[in-house]
Order: sequence, then C-alpha cells, then structure tokens
Amino acid sequence: MAVRRGFRRGPPSFHTDRLREAPPGHFYDVITNGFGAMNDYAAQIKPRDRWAIVAYIRALQFSQNASIQDLPPQDRQELEKLPR
Ligand code: HEM
Repeated sequence: MAVRRGFRRGPPSFHTDRLREAPPGHFYDVITNGFGAMNDYAAQIKPRDRWAIVAYIRALQFSQNASIQDLPPQDRQELEKLPR
C-alpha cells in the first residue's frame, strides 16, 4: 500500500531475524526520526505512546516466533494433549 501511494519502497516485515534482533530503541528511533523512505512521527506520537507501540511490535514478533519452551508448564501440558 505504501508503494502504491508513492513511497519508493515498502516497509520490511517485522518477522525477519534483523528486526527480531533489533533492540527496542531501534523502533523508537524509527518512529522518532524516520528511516529511509519513512517519515518520522515525532509530531503525532508522544514518547510514552512510542514505547507502547514498541512493546506491541515485540508482542507481534513473539506471536509468530515462540517456542513451546516459552509456555508455562501447565499450558505446555494442555497443548501436548492436542492431536497433531
Ligand atoms: C508508529 C507507526 C510505525 C512504526 C512503528 C513503523 C516502523 C517501521 C520500521 C521498524 C521500519 C523498518 C526499519 C528498518 O528496516 O530497520 C519501517 C520502515 C518503513 N516504514 Fe514505517 N512505521 C510506522 C508507520 C509508517 C507509516 C504510517 C508509513 C507510511 C505511510 C510507513 C512507511 C514505511 C516505509 C516506506 C518503510 C521502509 C523505509 C525504507 O526502507 O526506506 N511507516 N517502519
């Protein structure tokens, strides 16, 4: 969509090793200062909300890249009962 609206390229997926391994401050910095073709959102998004967005990105990343080891033992047992 960004490209259709004239950006020279679109945003990368959050689910790449590079962005999974990036520290929280990277996302905060991209929102604050922009990045490449992306404008900054410093005027529109307060610092506290920027950190909240960063936390949400981390949750999205985790939602697609969690291992069964990350679950508490009880949830793990429940999951292991399910047919595969
Ligand atoms: C708070 C909202 C947003 C967040 C957290 C966010 C976050 C990011 C991140 C993490 C990257 C990748 C930086 C990297 O490669 O290391 C990115 C790239 C990009 N974003 Fe955003 N973005 C936001 C809003 C937007 C919006 C609204 C647009 C378009 C209208 C946009 C357009 C782009 C584009 C075009 C790139 C690619 C830039 C390049 O590689 O030159 N972003 N964004």
